[in-house]
Amino acid sequence: MAFDSAFLDELRNRTPLTSLIGRRNKLVRSGRNWKICCPFHGEKTPSFYIYDDHFHCFGCGAHGDAISYVMQSEGRSFLEAVESLAGEAGLEVPKQDPKSAEKANEVKSLTDVLMLVQASYRRRLFRNEGQDGLAYLRRRGLTDETIERFGLGWSGDGRSLVEEMRTHNVTPEMLVRAGLMRVDENGNPKGELFFNRVTFPIRDRRGRLISFGARTLWGGQPKYLNGPETLLFSKRRTLFNLDLAREAVHNGAELVVVEGYMDVIALDQAGIKGGVAPLGTALGSEQLELMWRMSPSPIMCLDGDAAGARAALRTCEVALPLLSSGRTLRFCRLDPKDDPDSLIRTRGVEAMRDALAHSTTLVSELFALVTAGMIDPTPEQRAALRDKLISLSKMVPDRSLAGEYRSSLLDMFFERYRKKWKAKNGSPQMSRSYSGLDAPKTLHIEAGADKRLRILTALLLQHPNIFPDVEQAYTALNLPKDLDHLRGVFLDWVYQNQSLTHENCREWLEKQGVYAEAQALVEKFLPRDIEKSENRDDVLSVEVSESWWHFYGLVNFRNFEQEVTNDIQSAIMKAYTEDHGVESSFPESLLARMRVLEALRRGESI
Ligand code: UTP
Ligand code: MN
Repeated sequence: MAFDSAFLDELRNRTPLTSLIGRRNKLVRSGRNWKICCPFHGEKTPSFYIYDDHFHCFGCGAHGDAISYVMQSEGRSFLEAVESLAGEAGLEVPKQDPKSAEKANEVKSLTDVLMLVQASYRRRLFRNEGQDGLAYLRRRGLTDETIERFGLGWSGDGRSLVEEMRTHNVTPEMLVRAGLMRVDENGNPKGELFFNRVTFPIRDRRGRLISFGARTLWGGQPKYLNGPETLLFSKRRTLFNLDLAREAVHNGAELVVVEGYMDVIALDQAGIKGGVAPLGTALGSEQLELMWRMSPSPIMCLDGDAAGARAALRTCEVALPLLSSGRTLRFCRLDPKDDPDSLIRTRGVEAMRDALAHSTTLVSELFALVTAGMIDPTPEQRAALRDKLISLSKMVPDRSLAGEYRSSLLDMFFERYRKKWKAKNGSPQMSRSYSGLDAPKTLHIEAGADKRLRILTALLLQHPNIFPDVEQAYTALNLPKDLDHLRGVFLDWVYQNQSLTHENCREWLEKQGVYAEAQALVEKFLPRDIEKSENRDDVLSVEVSESWWHFYGLVNFRNFEQEVTNDIQSAIMKAYTEDHGVESSFPESLLARMRVLEALRRGESI
């Protein structure tokens, strides 16, 4: 029984093996995959492994895909298994007439045609006619090995492929069906699609040749030309380099989506093997599905220009309705003038790896995209923005995940809104600059403050885990020179994303040669009971941060009171717009500050 392979691929794509097999069997995690006790032979410890697209039992050798699983486990025929899976996947089974057998044959012969053409393009690149193409590729830094690995070629001048193919019994009609010739208005072959271009073979996920893309060397238009949709080639359903990337990702590489063919190739040559690219169209849902079968969190690496931002936003909008707790995206935005290819060439692969390592989450990318250019929004714009953020979060189908998106986006919204409000009222604007030079000058510091600033710094050096709660306040403080220096060293450490433990901090201070100074500060200024508790990071963090706020409040009481009042207002407003109880909008750190404020108002001291 012959079905065309595109239909069967689609059927397998839409039938995740884990959910099919998981219906009747208890799945057990095994690294990136799952395993179960083999349903086909009796066993007590699982040796039946489930991969992306096949299963294998190391006990009895059972092996296959979704279709053969149904055949083996339910004793059905191939046709019955296909029909039952197609029904569940909402796919229509193609009619089984003699034509489909013909089609299957044609698929085979189209592949053969493409392979003949590929061999011809390859030969041409290394002949006289291809010398401009070869020089171009080398000028762009590609090694011969890379040219070979990606099968790059030269199309010829557009007048000889048809004749050459005739000698292999390939007719112009077959070239049309393989997507290599144009047709006139009557559907007759009219001319070769590619001429004077470097050719990039496009393969499917199993490495079979399905089409070509091709680049002009001389600034002609379009810069890249891609083969049309054919029986073999569906742009929506494939990605450039899918086969090689899939293998690399299986072996631990990150899956990285870039914009162009040359970016994929440059990454690969530099040792980053998990690159794929869409094929001249915007990234669609089917391509995202393909990616998520390989990785729960692929990195979208987009150009840093306005077009890159538009593409990112569109990708977010395609992705949101498909998200689940195990399927998300990360984003890596490059400088406006760079793409991965140029970045690697100008600043080296380490710069690229660094950019990838600093990818942001989907939710923060989304916020950045939606708020881009909103420097000082009016109340109306802010209201519209809030609505937009809420409606974006509603696009996530899973309810609890949608709730998380909503609150994260609104948190970011209020965070930004609150800063603006403060800045306008002349209170310190929060800032990550801690050089001392641009620390806010307006902050009035009360008499006796010097000792308190020392206590604040000592508390953080001794209990760095409270830093996230006090970050904004501490970084905005105007400190005397020696403390400012210590703070700089401390913040360098904090912002390197390490776990904020006392031990790690001590190590860093030692390495920076300031440990003795820090220790002197701690011994001289830290209240005894707090100093002693150095190794009980989590237990005491509430107590410690309350102490911190106490001394902070004493540095400038008015200022502290104003900040807490503002934050209370924001929290209430947030509870109101988010439509849930007030208590859950008050983070623990705000509650701690409110307790301290009350105590200071009553004149208590520690
Ligand atoms: P870019 O224009 O960003 O080019 O196209 P690039 O990848 O940096 O290419 P080089 O470095 O100049 O060679 C990105 C991708 O968009 C598609 C292609 O898939 C290309 O790789 N594209 C671009 C087209 O399909 N047609 C075009 O005319 C241009
Ligand atoms: Mn480029």
